[in-house]
Amino acid sequence: MSNLSVTHLEQQVLTRSSPVAHTPDAKGIEIQIKKLHKYYGQVTVLENLDLDIRAGEFLAIVGRSGCGKSTLLRLIADLEQSSSGQIYLNGQNASHEPDVRVMFQDPRLLPWRSVVDNVNLGRSKAEKVQAFTLLEKVGLKEKSQLWPTQLSGGQRQRAALARALLHRPKVLLLDEPLGALDALTRLDMQQLIENLWLDQGFTAILVTHDVSEAVQLADRIILLNRGEIESQFAVNLPRPRQKNTAFTQLEQRVLNAVLAT
Ligand SMILES: Nc1ncnc2c1ncn2[C@@H]1O[C@H](COP(=O)(O)OP(=O)(O)OP(=O)(O)O)[C@@H](O)[C@H]1O
Ligand SMILES: [Mg+2]
Repeated sequence: MSNLSVTHLEQQVLTRSSPVAHTPDAKGIEIQIKKLHKYYGQVTVLENLDLDIRAGEFLAIVGRSGCGKSTLLRLIADLEQSSSGQIYLNGQNASHEPDVRVMFQDPRLLPWRSVVDNVNLGRSKAEKVQAFTLLEKVGLKEKSQLWPTQLSGGQRQRAALARALLHRPKVLLLDEPLGALDALTRLDMQQLIENLWLDQGFTAILVTHDVSEAVQLADRIILLNRGEIESQFAVNLPRPRQKNTAFTQLEQRVLNAVLAT
């Protein structure tokens, strides 16, 4: 980053700079959350939250609107400060770990940069070859020179995913990244995210309102309610997952738990 000119807005989109070069086999890291509290004025959003996430685990977070899912993600990404408590990434304070990327519901592509330049944001032209490789992986090789406005919504999200994965993050935080997509595109994107996760091995945390999506992708689902983890569900189904009886039974259990909050 230091030798590159990046505007303030572009810096916000990047979320974090990645000053350290990582080997291609870099894997996910463990996350430990201890007695985490977050207040906004008088409003308690997270209260005494303890959570351990394994290195390389795929965790899904579900819960009603306003229960604190995005707040928790922002705290893990070090985009916000906790009121008290600790978050350790690989045993280190969260602010020391640069390899965290966030993907939001809106793709946040910069309209004045081509698709490939969006993916390559913050990197030199010489490194562009990796951006092309990732665009190929997400099925956008032919669209790489277009402007973001020339892409469909699903294609923009794929470009945002390529950008998030360019630096081979150790942690990928996904805040309802597929929420605005149609059902078919959503299924394609779920498969793409699963394949890239299997390939790259990062620790993934997915916030979603779609319980089926959580069962489809996660190793474990946690339900947030009133600032705490209300319940947890292990998803012990083989991958790639089929919508069989075991799948739908678990989906129903999680859905019932969410509805009961
Ligand atoms: N910057 C802020 N200032 C004050 N209150 C905030 C702020 N950010 C979030 N909150 C409050 O914290 C609570 C949790 O918000 P958060 O965005 O984490 O919910 P969420 O679970 O992600 O909801 P949704 O499913 O609707 O996205 C809400 O009551 C919200 O109003
Ligand atoms: Mg949210």
